[in-house]
Amino acid sequence: MARYPDTLIDLIRDRVDLLDLIGRRVQLKKQGSAWLGLCPFHNEKTPSFSVRPDKGFKCFGCGEGGDAFGFVMKTKGVGFYEAVEELAALTGIPLPRETHEDPEALRRAEQRSKLLETLAAAREFYRAALQAPGGAAARRYLTERGLRPEIVQREGLGYAPPGWSGLLDHLGGGEAAIELLEAAGLVTRKGPGERPYDRFRDRVLFPIHDIKGRCVGFGGRLMVAGEPKYLNSPETELFQKGKLLYGLDQARAPIAKAGAVIVVEGYMDRLALVEHGIESVVATLGTAMTADHLRLLWGHTRRVVFCFDGDAAGGKAAWRALELYFDGLEADHHASFLFLPNGEDPDEVVRREGTAGFNRRIESAIAPVDFLIRKLGDGLNAADPEGRAAVLHRARPLVSRVKDPLLRELYLETLSQRLHIPLSFSQAGEHAEAARRRVAAPVSALSSRGRNPPSSAPRGITAQRDHEQALLALALRHPRLVREREEALSRLTLENAQLGLLLAELIEWSHAFEESPKAWPMEWFSTPGMARLAQRILVAEEFSLERIDEEFDGCLISVHVRALRRERDTLMRRIELDGDPDDGLTSRCRALKLEERRVLEQKVLGAR
Ligand code: UTP
Ligand code: MN
Repeated sequence: MARYPDTLIDLIRDRVDLLDLIGRRVQLKKQGSAWLGLCPFHNEKTPSFSVRPDKGFKCFGCGEGGDAFGFVMKTKGVGFYEAVEELAALTGIPLPRETHEDPEALRRAEQRSKLLETLAAAREFYRAALQAPGGAAARRYLTERGLRPEIVQREGLGYAPPGWSGLLDHLGGGEAAIELLEAAGLVTRKGPGERPYDRFRDRVLFPIHDIKGRCVGFGGRLMVAGEPKYLNSPETELFQKGKLLYGLDQARAPIAKAGAVIVVEGYMDRLALVEHGIESVVATLGTAMTADHLRLLWGHTRRVVFCFDGDAAGGKAAWRALELYFDGLEADHHASFLFLPNGEDPDEVVRREGTAGFNRRIESAIAPVDFLIRKLGDGLNAADPEGRAAVLHRARPLVSRVKDPLLRELYLETLSQRLHIPLSFSQAGEHAEAARRRVAAPVSALSSRGRNPPSSAPRGITAQRDHEQALLALALRHPRLVREREEALSRLTLENAQLGLLLAELIEWSHAFEESPKAWPMEWFSTPGMARLAQRILVAEEFSLERIDEEFDGCLISVHVRALRRERDTLMRRIELDGDPDDGLTSRCRALKLEERRVLEQKVLGAR
């Protein structure tokens, strides 16, 4: 149900002065009945962004267009209702209170606004403390770190004085106020009923804002060596590190202007870049990048430059970002990866190399495909056929995370080109993937009992039972086997197509791990049906803990031999029906028979 009546929306749209609204961001010049300017949604040198005060805006360069609500949504990365609220406030049209019917929602909204007030007051307290005589050392610290007073001011940096109750004494008059401070994460206690005290003490404070620029928490840095170097607000309803990016509120306009955002890992990294005039920057809050972060960023721009410290942690974070990027990949989303040299972070690099130097590095950030090849090619010779094939194998599970079929195909194509592998080969795995997606239904044919002998049946490689299921059960229980026998496994054709798909999935995954995991992560299966199948097999099949490798090889050989026999039977039936004029089918049958003999001999030898 719509939150506001259409007539109200129309009224607001009617009242908004579009030229004023857009003119705050874009310099507009009149031309005929329209106004022209440089498009805020893409980079351009000659204006193709046009505004008609009575209609809306349209860019003939990039195609963006819409009305006043659309403009607010796109430039601020907010949803429709937030845009309505903003323009209602701008035009002075009162909105009906959306919460008036729901007392619980009303109570929560009130609590939120009280928390925000508390945080705003705390921010002001800390800001003033930085400017007070007691803040001299903190001011000196920030100066030494290269931040001018002007930036310190603009970013609202503060200082928490050393005592245990500076903030409490200032804001904590009464139980209710203390409770709010505690709920806001500014005050803490050793345990319930113990004395409350200030969370942040003798630290430089970086206020963290939500998208609307309201303070929701702080990061605080020690000015001397000590642990923890940075202390952050605890997670609260307002402060969720996985959903917040430091500086996004300030960076919105610069991001729109630059057409890209740079993501760095530290508060000081962002500030150092801002100090050097690079303002389209946000920082994660000492946590790994999340899907929410990335979604948030795509709401503001189509280009994300991930900038990682030149250390092991940075490398890990980059891989995580790449996975997230692939998970949510959509057309016209562009990412690039910048790796800084030998253990340095953006702060250090921009101070040494200056704005121009850092911008050059940004321009040389590499595409996801190149990062992929570089990372997966580690320890391989990506020039020789084996190395190239291995890179492609390892890349497949990652590429298969891309949901959009066209993009997935294009990624495979690009990878193939880079690796000089014919596309048809690259697609082989991709088609298996497509087949897996089609077989999404749960497997009812494969009951855990019934088809299989009871678990007291004789075990061993000669036992009459479902070798295909046994093979999968062992592979599921001992992931290392898949990697160790990969070549033989990938040549198998299973009679049970579902089991075949399951096996293909395991083979693909085995490359995703540096070291084989103890167990396959169940949540990795492409469909719930596939996960259920795996569970069912695990329940149905039991093995002794000894002779695992022999059991596995035994199953492998039986399955292989059966596959060869199946193929031979099919061919012989065809020969019976259609004949075999050039003896092609007959000779293929002979080859299959020989292969069967070879495999069986191997079994005999292996069993010794
Ligand atoms: P770094 O350890 O890389 O520090 O932490 P930094 O950003 O270079 O900071 P400076 O230059 O020493 O001041 C990167 C980010 O990780 C989080 C913070 O968000 C920090 O900005 N972090 C780090 C913590 O949350 N706690 C810590 O103890 C350390
Ligand atoms: Mn640093």
